[in-house]
Amino acid sequence: MKEHEDIPGHVFPRQLGRPLAAAVAANGCWIEDADGRRFLDASGGPLVVNVGHARPEIAQAVHDQIVKCDYVHPTMFTGEPVESLASDLARHAPPGIERFYFMNSGSEAVETAVKLARQIHLEQGRPQRFRLISRWKSYHGLTLGALSATGRTSFRKPFAPLLPETAHIEAPYCYRCSFGKRYPDCGLHCARALEEAIENIGPETVSAFLAETVSGATIAAAVPPPGYWSAIRAICDKYDILLIQDEVFCGLGRTGHWFASEAHAVEPDIVTLGKGLSGGAMGLSAVGIRQAHFDCIRQGSGAFAHGGTFSHHQVACAAGRAVIAILEKERLVERVARLGPEIGAALRERLGEHPHVGDIRGVGFMWGVEFVQDRATRTPFPRQAKVTERIWQQLYDRGILLYKSIGLAGTHGDAMVLGPPFTMTEEDIHRVVEELAAALDQVVPR
Ligand SMILES: Cc1ncc(COP(=O)(O)O)c(C=O)c1O
Repeated sequence: MKEHEDIPGHVFPRQLGRPLAAAVAANGCWIEDADGRRFLDASGGPLVVNVGHARPEIAQAVHDQIVKCDYVHPTMFTGEPVESLASDLARHAPPGIERFYFMNSGSEAVETAVKLARQIHLEQGRPQRFRLISRWKSYHGLTLGALSATGRTSFRKPFAPLLPETAHIEAPYCYRCSFGKRYPDCGLHCARALEEAIENIGPETVSAFLAETVSGATIAAAVPPPGYWSAIRAICDKYDILLIQDEVFCGLGRTGHWFASEAHAVEPDIVTLGKGLSGGAMGLSAVGIRQAHFDCIRQGSGAFAHGGTFSHHQVACAAGRAVIAILEKERLVERVARLGPEIGAALRERLGEHPHVGDIRGVGFMWGVEFVQDRATRTPFPRQAKVTERIWQQLYDRGILLYKSIGLAGTHGDAMVLGPPFTMTEEDIHRVVEELAAALDQVVPR
């Protein structure tokens, strides 16, 4: 990869190190660039394109909505796509989650959730509760509020002076347990750490605990151990703290369940969705809350000072409805549940013995492969070696797109995330696994 090549044009792009190839077409699980190169999109971007690229059903729904009723201010009107998408989500949501607030990005959904938690406490006569607790090694977005909750040091560091205060506890990351323990003898120290944090901060001041139900890109699809979520729920209940589960990455079928919380038998007070909700066709996110909390806001102050120009967007919600209809009609969540273990098995068979593969973990259609310098000691490669970036580039050169995960062990640590569209063929999934093995051998030979 050449560094500091000229970047033509006037765009301030997301990559500053090199000019990006221009994508000209995307269909199914494939993306084509302006030079005619084709890429198998095995991460659906950042796990967004859940139902495949260029779905005519989404295009039709968006087109129909634009020509019928494109924009109305969300404080002046509601509309059929907004109402129907909320009902669709309520049908699949965890028990009690019956009201949905629509925004544009995952970051906005997280900010909305944090504000809602605060307002629920205000309505319930607890004005002293405002503090948020989240986790290290987490990702909740890059806007200032969401970034303050995010626990990924490299993203936080430059902007730390701008961030509102958030307390962080350690993540349930068994491969690199911060307490040096092993499950199940650990006694779920990582969950009990929440109680410690609450006691230290002052229970009467804590509003909510925010965490990804299954960790996303930051620690590459690390699944919390059994019992983690029920322990967290019990602590939240004990201290009257609202539980916000961030399912922007892992929600809407990604884990083989409509909501990832289902598999962990935990019921959130507030849940965030994003990414796959629109299938990638446009920005759309949602926050689900309990009917009882909605009622207490309505009957209390009667307003939630939030939203903005593009909240509850008719066209974005039309896209969301089309996505839910595809997931239901093609039984894609069930497909993810059925084929997910096969992805894990293929990864383990092909990469499990590789001396530089430390851990393979995941669920459904989200899998992480963590690379290490030394398997026995779990020593990461030094960050300067840019192992993930080099493997990613190898794969890109081979026409395969995966998602990078960096900084799993302090500032070091390397992993790759597989997150194929739910429609990807078994043959293509196996091809991705083969190519990952080949790229790994190329960059860090056995
Ligand atoms: C768990 C989680 N929350 C929030 C976000 C932020 O979403 P967005 O990039 O749409 O703002 C992400 C994005 O990766 C995420 O994975």
